[in-house]
Amino acid sequence: MKIAVLTSGGDAPGMNAAIRAVVRTGLQYGHEMFGVVDGYRGLLEDRFIPLTSKDVSGMLNQGGTMLGTSRVPEFKEIPVQQVALDNLRNRGIDGLVVIGGEGSYKGALALHNLEFPTVAIPGTIDNDVFGTDFTIGFHTALNTIVDAIDKLRDTSSSHRRCSIIEVMGRTSGDLALYAGICGGAEFIITPESPIDKDKLISTLKRHNQEGRRHAIIVVTEQQFDVHKLAAEITIKSGFSTRATVLGYIQRGGRPVAEDRILASRMGSFAVEKLMEGQSGICIGIHNDELMTHSLLEIVNHPKDRAKLYELVKKLRS
Ligand code: ADP
Ligand code: F6P
Repeated sequence: MKIAVLTSGGDAPGMNAAIRAVVRTGLQYGHEMFGVVDGYRGLLEDRFIPLTSKDVSGMLNQGGTMLGTSRVPEFKEIPVQQVALDNLRNRGIDGLVVIGGEGSYKGALALHNLEFPTVAIPGTIDNDVFGTDFTIGFHTALNTIVDAIDKLRDTSSSHRRCSIIEVMGRTSGDLALYAGICGGAEFIITPESPIDKDKLISTLKRHNQEGRRHAIIVVTEQQFDVHKLAAEITIKSGFSTRATVLGYIQRGGRPVAEDRILASRMGSFAVEKLMEGQSGICIGIHNDELMTHSLLEIVNHPKDRAKLYELVKKLRS
């Protein structure tokens, strides 16, 4: 077979480990392996590169994606998808592995619907893909955030301040939720558990009166202006507050061990599924077992986080 691999959407630490696993596994089985440069953009512009074992050497521990990535809004249109299909067919490619988040999954599903064999792997720091306990990149980003919270707690305690930390996640609160638990946050504000401003301010007022030296609030991005909230908390609760937006630093860095293992396992498994003739599926992990799901069942399906939010309530001070 000729098998191609691409990375799409926001990059995530561990994508390189996944590319390496796809390429090396494919080569072990005697296939010809190709990379598509810059995700769906490269697919539309016919930018394929042959990949050897040596080409993916030294990538396991590197952040980012060696193939590049892109966001291509027009890939939602069938005539545009048809261009990608023609390029794949003209190159004689027999199967495609897409590494990305839910948006990328929809692109993979579109190619499958056009009868091109496609398998997807969850690669995004947001952990917002249904059907898998974890996505590649989530643990690395989580560790970056927890490290930042620890540092912000130091300076907050010294100055007797409240610290708001805005993290990525788009419409998913997983990064904020997990980081908030790991960082001992007083408040975790996510799309699934939105702000209750009156409660927030009255609690911080009480904490300030009790003489507490710090408070940590972790917030998922895109909900409100965290700097304005910091100013409002300072005025209304008397607890001096500052906001820090962690930004793109969360997407970079060397993948942690969990992401390297997850990426290696999923990449290898994806190739085997293509070899079995499967298509329109994505790889997931649940209770340490790899599995496949139909892409159609996975897209637009939110994750249930009720148990973790219950835990947050029990840990509240
Ligand atoms: P992620 O994959 O990290 O969720 P995006 O949501 O930006 O990132 O999606 C990545 C790319 O997937 C988009 O830029 C687009 O090319 C493709 N994509 C997203 N939604 C669709 C869709 N409904 N149909 C086809 N392709 C899509
Ligand atoms: O999809 C991952 C993600 O990191 C989101 O958490 C974030 O909102 C988005 O990408 C930012 O992406 P861009 O590179 O398009 O600004």
